[in-house]
Amino acid sequence: MLEQQQAGESLRFNDIGKVFPGVRALSEISFVARPHQVHALMGENGAGKSTLLKILGGSYQPNSGNLQIGDRTMHFKSAADSIAGGVAVIHQELQLVPEMTVAENLLLGHMPSRFGVVNRRAMLRRARELLTGLADEIDPSTRLGDLSLGQRQLVEIAKAMSHNAHVIAFDEPTSSLSAREIERLMAIIAKLRDEGRVILYVSHRMEEIFRICDAVTVFKDGRFVRTFEHMSDLSHDQLVTCM
Ligand SMILES: Nc1ncnc2c1ncn2[C@@H]1O[C@H](COP(=O)(O)OP(=O)(O)O)[C@@H](O)[C@H]1O
Ligand SMILES: [Mg+2]
Repeated sequence: MLEQQQAGESLRFNDIGKVFPGVRALSEISFVARPHQVHALMGENGAGKSTLLKILGGSYQPNSGNLQIGDRTMHFKSAADSIAGGVAVIHQELQLVPEMTVAENLLLGHMPSRFGVVNRRAMLRRARELLTGLADEIDPSTRLGDLSLGQRQLVEIAKAMSHNAHVIAFDEPTSSLSAREIERLMAIIAKLRDEGRVILYVSHRMEEIFRICDAVTVFKDGRFVRTFEHMSDLSHDQLVTCM
């Protein structure tokens, strides 16, 4: 279950700016993503979507601005900070270790152990729980590097969801998934939304955006263009024009 404390809280970006040497990746990005909604981020390549999610995930620090969850202002200095703040980001580039098993990847950092000895059976059981509904067919004792790219992406998603985060951000999660895997992911995202979480969803695929998203924010060249609060009032052409 979701932490009582965070239920109902929005995620707010306030004037976020990010500069890389020679590139202004984000300028004064402000918008709100609400609980019980899937909020799409759209914009051409290089618009700054992944940079914003890396700031949310604590991998990058902004040069200006901040983000808020509910009424708390967050300054994430690391990925661990972001996780502790109730955030899970599934990055575009996979973060897993191919030489380790699926279970080890899923539970890295919090393996069930007794007197310093990892409880292998408990670990496999917990890993199987985390994969339920998303990738039941993956055997947690498989070496990660032996899975297909789509399956690895599902493991990454299962890992991010294991922290029971209030805010969950997906960066192009379907890029290497099969049609059947996409269906399962869509069902899980709908469930997370119905539980009252804040979901951010980055994709180029219009049909996914219109199917799963409730609101959409458009970026262009690192700048905020517009938020449409109701996908249902928006046409495909309007969205394309805006981008
Ligand atoms: N680590 C980095 N170092 C330098 N420039 C970067 C870095 N990450 C992103 N950029 C630049 O920032 C801009 C936004 O990139 P990105 O956030 O990846 O866009 P998107 O995800 O919307 O395609 C681009 O111009 C990109 O080249
Ligand atoms: Mg990107």
